[in-house]
Amino acid sequence: MRTTELVIVVVVLAVGVLASTSFSANVTYDHRALLIDGKRRVLVSGSIHYPRSTPEMWPDLIQKSKDGGLDVIETYVFWNFHEPSRGQYDFEGRKDLVRFVKAVAEAGLYVHLRIGPYVCAEWNYGGFPLWLHFIPGIQFRTDNEPFKAEMKRFTAKIVDMMKQEKLYASQGGPIILSQIENEYGNVAGPYGSPGKSYVKWSAGMALSLDTGVPWVMCQQGDAPDPIINTCNGFYCDQFTPNSNNKPKMWTENWTGWFLSFGGSLPYRPPEDVAFAVARFYQRGGTFQNYYMYHGGTNFGRTTGGPFIATSYDYDAPIDEYGLIRQPKWGHLKDLHKVIKQAEEALGATDPTITSLGSNLEAAVYKTETRCVAFLANVGTKSDATVTFNGNSYNLPAWSVSILPDCKNVVYNTAKINSAAMIPSFVRQSLIDDVDASKSLGSVWSWINEPVGISKDNAFTKPGLLEQINTTADKSDYLWYSLSIDVKGDEPFLDGSQTDLHVESLGHGLHAFINGKLAGSGKGRNGNSKVSLEIPVTLVSGKNTIDLLSLTVGLQNYGSFFDKVGAGITGPVKLKSAKGGATLDLSSQRWTYQIGLKGEELDLPIGDSSQWNSQSTLPKNKPLTWYKTSFDAPGGSSPVALDLTGMGKGEAWVNGQSIGRYWPTYIAPNSGCNDNCNYRGAFDADKCHKNCGKPSQELYHVPRSWLRPSGNTLVLFEEIGGDPMQLSFATREIESLCSHISESHPPPVDMWSSESKSRRQLTPVLSLECPSPNQVISSIKFASFGTPHGSCGSFNHGKCSSARALSVVQKTCIGSKSCNIGVSINTFGDPCKGVTKSLAVEASCT
Ligand code: GAL
Repeated sequence: MRTTELVIVVVVLAVGVLASTSFSANVTYDHRALLIDGKRRVLVSGSIHYPRSTPEMWPDLIQKSKDGGLDVIETYVFWNFHEPSRGQYDFEGRKDLVRFVKAVAEAGLYVHLRIGPYVCAEWNYGGFPLWLHFIPGIQFRTDNEPFKAEMKRFTAKIVDMMKQEKLYASQGGPIILSQIENEYGNVAGPYGSPGKSYVKWSAGMALSLDTGVPWVMCQQGDAPDPIINTCNGFYCDQFTPNSNNKPKMWTENWTGWFLSFGGSLPYRPPEDVAFAVARFYQRGGTFQNYYMYHGGTNFGRTTGGPFIATSYDYDAPIDEYGLIRQPKWGHLKDLHKVIKQAEEALGATDPTITSLGSNLEAAVYKTETRCVAFLANVGTKSDATVTFNGNSYNLPAWSVSILPDCKNVVYNTAKINSAAMIPSFVRQSLIDDVDASKSLGSVWSWINEPVGISKDNAFTKPGLLEQINTTADKSDYLWYSLSIDVKGDEPFLDGSQTDLHVESLGHGLHAFINGKLAGSGKGRNGNSKVSLEIPVTLVSGKNTIDLLSLTVGLQNYGSFFDKVGAGITGPVKLKSAKGGATLDLSSQRWTYQIGLKGEELDLPIGDSSQWNSQSTLPKNKPLTWYKTSFDAPGGSSPVALDLTGMGKGEAWVNGQSIGRYWPTYIAPNSGCNDNCNYRGAFDADKCHKNCGKPSQELYHVPRSWLRPSGNTLVLFEEIGGDPMQLSFATREIESLCSHISESHPPPVDMWSSESKSRRQLTPVLSLECPSPNQVISSIKFASFGTPHGSCGSFNHGKCSSARALSVVQKTCIGSKSCNIGVSINTFGDPCKGVTKSLAVEASCT
């Protein structure tokens, strides 16, 4: 290399490094797109909420997002997470917003900061701190002075913090966009005209903070200029902003859906996500955000609800544990490559849209030098053949083909080139020494949580109190306790059945009679109310009725959601089968206790002196705290705690809450479809798995919370469970699978506008082991011809090449990755005139 060449290389490298950490200064927009330093940008964004992973995970999640083709990371800012008490801020650890934004910048990506500060997000109380509710005269999310003052104070606080760190693009930082409010337009009706003025005020307030970058409001058709109104939904191709001067932007493309306790597991097929994205860019969109790109975990008591599960996996392209979800991640990565290659043409002009027949549509972006076409078949049933620019194209049902030169199909949303990775959880022995006496479970100790009132701060009040106003959400738990005298001659005693009847707003309750659990009730996502009617046995004289009412995440969505109450608001009655006598206890003087004794004693930390390990470990005993110690599972794969065997409660590892657990809440038996048809409009109920199974058995334990040995696990169990059944598991990849037909487009990487005719290229089946130190160790299945079935259960069809297995074995075994041409040149032709495909299942070690 000559010196001048060397200098050029050094300069190029230096610019590259700078480009990844320093950002341009000017973000504006016009009708087509966001402009960064005057250049129209077509941007791909993805949501990663910083509290739903750990700072140790952030760089890897962000890198995987970048590798997946994202330009922007979007996050909400979670007010109640940062200001647990009014005026007391916390930005440490998982709350270190600045560190998160800087981590994104370090990877060279932009940030969209959705400050809200109402965020919804399946987050406790939609992100509002509970103390806000107690400010005199406050009305949330409307033209109300106390609310507006608080909202402005927090929004300004965040903006100032970002400014101080020079994080706005206008200051050379990564933040190119901010959001104020969240989907207010969806719920505004009942707020009437004060709601309308609140929108105007929010807009003005945001603008007054002078961030130097544009603001958006999502789902807000009346967002005042210059605020951009954006779309949220499973599809946004039909959306138009409220002014011709604003670009078409999509702030939430739901990549799956959230899980609730008691619900089955939602998923969204990659073909449909890709279809929705391609349709959006086809119809003039230039900014699209995946909600979620990494969903993560609702640690602690952060879930909203009620009944949002601890896992917030969301079927996102990066799974809860931080591993790429294949083929979703890869299929979208391919799409992003094609979109980015077309960026200039897409930004330059509006598309020209023409019909190619019923449900068939072409959109063309043409400039002097480029022509990009999108061909869509929005029909749900039949594939179609269309003629476009004199050429014939096959368009599978519910798919978009992208032609970056208006000629060659480089990508089709229904044809996945990425291999699937089938994950599995491998159970781990936690103690190297296999001596049974040392295994997890033999070193358990426990403490009983007292039934009923045990704390000094208990108080007595006539009547039944609403829970959230009483606890201020300091704990999930509120005891309602009553002592009654039953005389010998009362009907509730004389041998006929007596029922206790309790009506609660939710979310769950356990009823104890004379210290014994008599029955439990729970609501579900969508209806949190509990109505309990259980037989009880009373004694002559004094009886205690102790009702433990509990919340499972506070409401986060809807008009006036902040006023939705919880707890036992009654009536509470005793009913005798004999003669229908009832005794209404609702207006008696009840004694209340907020929270548990164990919470007061800081038992989650594990170091109390009261832990009991002398006598036999109690099993299936309500209200029990358990503690054990364990060694971290070996290796570096993500760790899950399998809480099968436990009932309901919360778990802590080394003092950090890994969230509420509830493996006994079983999903309904119906409504699932393991192989959901991606064709046709998706909605949150369309594709579900795990019917009839526990909604969530596995709970993420971040690696960074573990030491190699001597870790403490504490559980608080409400209903009764058997901790001996617990196990740890690590998340591994069991198989790689791919199924590519002769009609698949060749890999996107093989495309270059110079290549004369792409039609001469052949499709390729590619496999790659997920970890750097792995190689493909075996081929479990390979067939070229007409194989069918899905990963894990592929079968040979009528037609199959005799060479398939040996060709694939020879090419792949021992390598980290391999590529095989899907063509008769490789495999011979086992059945002339039939479109053939290659299906492979492999494993890595
Ligand atoms: C939207 C909301 C998000 C999230 C999503 C569902 O309405 O803006 O915050 O709640 O629904 O996951």
